[in-house]
Amino acid sequence: MSTTTVPPARYVRGRLKVPGDKAISHRYAIIAALANGPSRLSNYAPGADCHSTLACLRALGVSIIEDGTTVTVMGRGLGRLSRPTAPLDAGNSGTTMRMMAGVLAAHPFTTTMTGDESLSRRPMRRVIEPLGMMGCRIESKDSRPPLTIHGTTLKPIAYTSATPSAQVKSAILFAGLHTHGTTSVVEPAQTRDHTEQAFRAFGGTVRVEEGGRRVSIDGPQTLAGQQLTVPGDFSSAAFWMVAAAARPGSRVELEDVGLNPSRTALIGVLKRFGARVTVDLNGDSAGEPRGTITVEGDRVGRIDIAPEEVPGLIDELPAIAALAGHGAEVSVRGAAELRVKETDRIAALVAGLRALGISADERPDGFVAGEPGRSTVGAGPADARGDHRMAMAFAIAALAGESPSQIVGAESVVISYPGFFDTLGRLVA
Ligand code: S3P
Repeated sequence: MSTTTVPPARYVRGRLKVPGDKAISHRYAIIAALANGPSRLSNYAPGADCHSTLACLRALGVSIIEDGTTVTVMGRGLGRLSRPTAPLDAGNSGTTMRMMAGVLAAHPFTTTMTGDESLSRRPMRRVIEPLGMMGCRIESKDSRPPLTIHGTTLKPIAYTSATPSAQVKSAILFAGLHTHGTTSVVEPAQTRDHTEQAFRAFGGTVRVEEGGRRVSIDGPQTLAGQQLTVPGDFSSAAFWMVAAAARPGSRVELEDVGLNPSRTALIGVLKRFGARVTVDLNGDSAGEPRGTITVEGDRVGRIDIAPEEVPGLIDELPAIAALAGHGAEVSVRGAAELRVKETDRIAALVAGLRALGISADERPDGFVAGEPGRSTVGAGPADARGDHRMAMAFAIAALAGESPSQIVGAESVVISYPGFFDTLGRLVA
């Protein structure tokens, strides 16, 4: 584990493109593998997580050619993945494991899926239960990875999920795609709808009702290979948006960022607290709006995130926490799901912010951090605990430091944003 030093910065300025969206890349790769014919996916996410999905698909007999961030997937057709010869490694990626579990549940062979130390601690009952109702037996270690998935002919279900989770919804929809009949998922709140959009982009149909909370799919469907371009990742852009909002004199323009409304709640949060944010929509491709986001620096005061906002902000909460380093008081409630991400993000954020000299306290379902007008002291070290979004959040908090700050485990940014620290070096002054 290495230590990275982040010096203080007066402001961040620049125009840039963030890497391709992680969530959309996973879905395009998986659906392309289930479609007939080749798909060409441009601006595929360069991080390790989306490469874990490609590695799993290759192990299932899918031929994939990579040329930089352009990925060509030779679709095998629905239900036509091959029995793997070894366990599939999902690495750090919960999205890979949960969504592939839905696909593998419908294939007539047994697959074991493993993950790294972090993924091996994450809860899988949320997919084991609905896939079990569809007829698939999944063995696990106390509902945690590794998972041994005994694929079979599945039956459609109507499932009501207790936790809003796009990964769970997607796993059930992927499984339902392979059945004969209608599978539906009802969630307590709408979650990101990239899977629904991606099915349509590949020629499939899904029904969306009740404001996006109920999604149904009629299986089986034949999907066709496509040429698609992944938009920039809003959750990566979030770190620059927050940095620019917090440092007066900053101006950051983020080009070709995905603006799917189920992901962009951060824009409203930053505006609500006085940041100047403008969005220029460049249209929509494959159901995914995209455009340029410009954020100019201003002072932010108190930031209160209510439980109902959390599903639209789940991956941006670490970036929002970084504002506590810049003189904002940040309060988050209704976000207990943060405890089961790549690490316990509530505990990790509170410990890391404190290490940087910022007051922070845990709540069972969130945290409160920062004092009005009081900024990061610096020094640290703040431990990212192997979690990419912790590393980026601490780096943004460190910009406000009185002295340089140390971050342990900053190399974890490779999971979603391999060039993060190079870009940080270019943007700060
Ligand atoms: C994701 C959904 C969210 C998010 C994760 C990616 C996805 O997780 O936190 O980073 O791609 O569907 P949950 O489904 O567990 O909420």
